[in-house]
Amino acid sequence: MLTEKIDTAVLRAAGSQLKIVANFAVGFDNIDTAACAKAGVTVTNTPEVLTQAVAEHTFALLMAAAKRIAETDGYFRAKKYHGWGPLLWLGTELKNKTLGIVGTGRIGSEVARIAVQGFNMNVLYTDVQKNERLEKTTGAQFVDQKTLLAKSDFVSIHVPLLPTTRHLMGAAQFKQMKRSAFLINTSRGPVVDEKALVVALQKKIIAGAALDVYEFEPNPAPGLTKLKNVVLTPHTASATVEARNKMSRICAENIIAVLSGQPAITPIK
Ligand code: DGY
Repeated sequence: MLTEKIDTAVLRAAGSQLKIVANFAVGFDNIDTAACAKAGVTVTNTPEVLTQAVAEHTFALLMAAAKRIAETDGYFRAKKYHGWGPLLWLGTELKNKTLGIVGTGRIGSEVARIAVQGFNMNVLYTDVQKNERLEKTTGAQFVDQKTLLAKSDFVSIHVPLLPTTRHLMGAAQFKQMKRSAFLINTSRGPVVDEKALVVALQKKIIAGAALDVYEFEPNPAPGLTKLKNVVLTPHTASATVEARNKMSRICAENIIAVLSGQPAITPIK
């Protein structure tokens, strides 16, 4: 599981009997893939099968932030609602707003599709390369990160955790965002400097955030849970019955394939 580090110490302890590490996740930053390759151990992940779950959860978070669902749920449960008012709990609409997608792999691309087809949003994106297919199907526009941050009403992160993406979003980037903008992260916690995010939210440098992943899981950065302008879920973006069943099946099929001398179904190269 993504909570287990597979490093040289584990590989050494496992010895030559270990043939495959079948990660129960699409992200595999918990695995030293170079060390596995050197030891002749196959590594597999679970691509595709959780794309829909995570993309939908991204929208659940985005909408919860925009429509202030968590805050108003708490308000209502606390019996603070004493009657309708025209300015009570104003949120923001999605239609014609700009969504900035950082990383347009499978999940980022599905988020773009939902944004355009479901909500008539405009999509900007950054990536290591242009995504012609995405541009054709959604009208998404390729821009540099600074432009994306300056122009987006919502910024959603969909990159893997790599040395180059660690703290991709920090104090400087929050300052480049609109003060009315929201940050959504369903990728990996360390992509966001969470301490800097808490400061940005406290100082209202950005309007809000919705997070499913955390820099030091399972612990939130100090002050994060005290903030009203965040929506927080416990790394459950892919936690649907459908996705979990398919993830389990892929893991099992990869293990069976490799242990019977066949190539893995979804190897990490
Ligand atoms: C993944 O598959 O990488 C997800 O984070 C698991 O929920």
